Amino acid sequence: MLGATGKTGRRVARRLEALGRPVRVGTPSGTPPFDWTDEATWPAALDGVGSVYVTYYLDLAVPGAAEAVGTFADLAVARGVRRLVLLSGRGEAGARRGEQALQRSGADWTIVRSAFMAQNFNESFFLEPVRAGEVAFPAAEALAEPFIDADDIADVAVAALTTDGHVGQVYEVTGPRLVGWAQAVAEIAAVAGRPIRYLPVSLEEYASLLIANQVPAGYVKMLTDVFTEVLDGRNAYLSDGVRRALGREPRDFADYARAAAATGVWSDPAAA
Ligand SMILES: NC(=O)c1ccc[n+]([C@@H]2O[C@H](COP(=O)([O-])OP(=O)(O)OC[C@H]3O[C@@H](n4cnc5c(N)ncnc54)[C@H](OP(=O)(O)O)[C@@H]3O)[C@@H](O)[C@H]2O)c1
Repeated sequence: MLGATGKTGRRVARRLEALGRPVRVGTPSGTPPFDWTDEATWPAALDGVGSVYVTYYLDLAVPGAAEAVGTFADLAVARGVRRLVLLSGRGEAGARRGEQALQRSGADWTIVRSAFMAQNFNESFFLEPVRAGEVAFPAAEALAEPFIDADDIADVAVAALTTDGHVGQVYEVTGPRLVGWAQAVAEIAAVAGRPIRYLPVSLEEYASLLIANQVPAGYVKMLTDVFTEVLDGRNAYLSDGVRRALGREPRDFADYARAAAATGVWSDPAAA
């Protein structure tokens, strides 16, 4: 399990443990550690492993990711791993190269191509902006995104890791509804019970905001490169990956937002 403490990884790990499957956590702080930037850590992490959930850090679309994923997949197959399930993105050329590198390994592969995860709003880089009452992002207010729930991604990944019929499948997974960026933030504000503004900004303004928030320059470049590519409307459509993999519909953004709000994660810090 790579990225086993991340948004999808920890959900996949929890499900596998509930099924009584042994799980090896492949992260820099795991035992043994696994680090994408240090190939010397890869063989020990693969010892005795039959299947791997592969999530690349920082993002499968960044330069060098496809090469690393290809090298990792080849090593995994050479060490006896049969099944590889890759978390990928929609629409980015780099992500497509990463998929192809993994497919070439000869493993039994499944690709899970994910839309923008809803959990970015409560477990990731949008959490602080939401709590602060203003989400600035380089996407037009009305640009539609079919936000996907990380629980649905995890269900698809676990089905692919543990059951038959998913080998050689590319599952493009989205939520059931196209939601505009301003609409998504408005839905969160409604269930959080306080005003939160969506602010469309240029890529340059977004990069400056990240730098002002002490995000390292290399990280800012990677993020803005990826967002330049995918926020042009190419991903504004629904896909049926969840239904094809699981035989049920994906969870709606409104249900995600209600459940996340109920945890108190978006409560106004000033009111606490
Ligand atoms: N977020 C989205 O909306 C979205 C959409 C489509 C595709 N994706 C893809 O999802 C992948 C990220 O998955 P995620 O969002 O589930 O993860 P995430 O929540 O960003 O978590 C990152 C995981 O990677 C681990 N990690 C950090 N540095 C690492 C390193 N140097 N080597 C190995 N592992 C490292 C972290 O471990 P620690 O906890 O120890 O730091 C953590 O388990 C990316 O490849 C991206 O392309 C994301």
